Amino acid sequence: MITKSPGLFIAFEGGDGAGKSTQAARLAEALESRGLTVLRTREPGGTPIGEKLRSLVLDHGHGHIDAHTEALIFAASRAAHAGQVIRPALSRGEIVLTDRYIDSSVAYQGAGRDLGTEAVRTLNEWATDGLQPDLTVLLDVDPADGRRRRTAGDTAEDRMESEADEFHARIRQAFLELADAHPDTYLVLAAQLSVDELAARILDRVDALLAAPGAAAMRDRSTA
Ligand code: TYD
Repeated sequence: MITKSPGLFIAFEGGDGAGKSTQAARLAEALESRGLTVLRTREPGGTPIGEKLRSLVLDHGHGHIDAHTEALIFAASRAAHAGQVIRPALSRGEIVLTDRYIDSSVAYQGAGRDLGTEAVRTLNEWATDGLQPDLTVLLDVDPADGRRRRTAGDTAEDRMESEADEFHARIRQAFLELADAHPDTYLVLAAQLSVDELAARILDRVDALLAAPGAAAMRDRSTA
């Protein structure tokens, strides 16, 4: 049985170059300045085994990785992350901000690699024992813009980033469809808005969640 934990679980999703990490950092800062306990984490990664899996699946030089293997590596990393990091933090009543979660696999492996979004969702629900975010912030980025922002940062492209714009367009569409299907638990924002504007809108939505009756445990912690 899935029981609601006392913490709050927020996932940041979107294409490469959408600015997720910047917004996760801004939200963490705003919440911590109020005395709330925030855990920032990321996928793939977030645990020692997850970091190893991250380099297996993202670094060039491991030879060809077929789509099923890729999906299973991301799911394995996520299983460790959900069980060892996210669930324990939520049970302690913390706010967990993750840079990517299940939707990334549904979009990149399900739609991008054409494995099927439902199959990939089912695999990941099994891997995480059904742990779902309370809110997903989707930063919607046009693939060409995303590529421009990434190359401006001047770091080498990983295996996913170096895929064609057409691959990234399928991913974008898949993210938008996920959000459309569950408007109550998604906040969709255009990534080209200013950093400050995005941060303000995200904080507004999170404030609404924190004001909900179920969030009392977290508010109590901040004044303890
Ligand atoms: P990310 O950490 O956002 O990249 P960066 O460190 O360059 O900002 O994500 C790494 C890449 O892995 C990104 O292209 C998306 C991809 N990815 C998947 O294909 N499936 C997944 O389940 C996850 C979590 C990421």
